[in-house]
Amino acid sequence: EDVLTRIKNIQTIYLGKHLIEPWYFAPYPQELSQCPIVYICEYCLKFMKSMKCLERHRQKCKLYHPPGNEIYRKHPLSFFEVDGRKNKTYTQNLCLLAKLFLDHKFLHYDTDAFLFYILTEYDSNGFHIVGYFSKEKESSEDYNVACILTLPPYQRLGYGKVLIEFSYELSKIEGKTGTPEKPLSDLGLLCYRRYWSITILDVLINLKQKESDQDKAQISIQELSEVTSIKKEDIVSTLQHLNIITYYKGQYVIVLDNNLVENHIQAMKKRKIRIDPKLLHWTPKD
Ligand code: COA
Ligand code: NA
Repeated sequence: EDVLTRIKNIQTIYLGKHLIEPWYFAPYPQELSQCPIVYICEYCLKFMKSMKCLERHRQKCKLYHPPGNEIYRKHPLSFFEVDGRKNKTYTQNLCLLAKLFLDHKFLHYDTDAFLFYILTEYDSNGFHIVGYFSKEKESSEDYNVACILTLPPYQRLGYGKVLIEFSYELSKIEGKTGTPEKPLSDLGLLCYRRYWSITILDVLINLKQKESDQDKAQISIQELSEVTSIKKEDIVSTLQHLNIITYYKGQYVIVLDNNLVENHIQAMKKRKIRIDPKLLHWTPKD
């Protein structure tokens, strides 16, 4: 890629009610880099050079939600599944939008091989995009997420964890374990580490509480992987990162100190938005 084309080219975007400053270059048409603000339809993601164009567009654009099927709804959140082959314009526009916040990644602008899961927040006006992740229809490497994004106005509010939780719920339905495509961005890794840590700790702490003889609670990496759909390698790296795994008298043991348990309980209390698998209406396509 040409070095020049990597310089941030879009100054500001207007999306929904938000003015957002892009982080990185994205290959929007060259003439848009002259505009102080690029206007994006929050429903179909078409980009335009002026507010006037956007207003005119809204008279014609009949969308009030992403195209595709709504597969999950729990107030105020809703997920839509969009097929990259059937909705090329939308998904290509989505990839362009995402590129504004992704530096490292080679984005797949050829969307045919991907499904896109759009997280929206709905009100009486429509379903407002919060973020999304994409997923290869067929992955030989157990990837269950290709790209993941929370739009900046919604970041640090827990939506990243919601997107990741949703991706693992899909993997559970498929009866598979999954892992995000590498390399992860710095923020991507932070968010995954956090999700993996709380998910694994939750299983371990619940197990410990159920066991009458608490010192004897046992679970294998394999079992942890099966109940969470998190790939074994990611479980091991998380246990190491948490620094709770030790070799003792000839075997591996996990030691949960009170501090860690208390912090975990506090973190779970803060985690208000959870995916309810009963409300997920989805079957894998083959
Ligand atoms: N600084 C430090 N830690 C951060 C962070 C930041 N700016 N953003 C997220 N984290 C960590 C925190 O540990 C946080 O947990 P906490 O709030 O309980 O402390 C955890 O990640 C999850 O945060 P959450 O609010 O659920 O995630 P998010 O909605 O902000 O989304 C991304 C996370 C990665 C999706 C978002 O930052 C993003 O879209 N980044 C740009 C695109 C990208 O890099 N995607 C990944 C490509 S592989
Ligand atoms: Na958060």
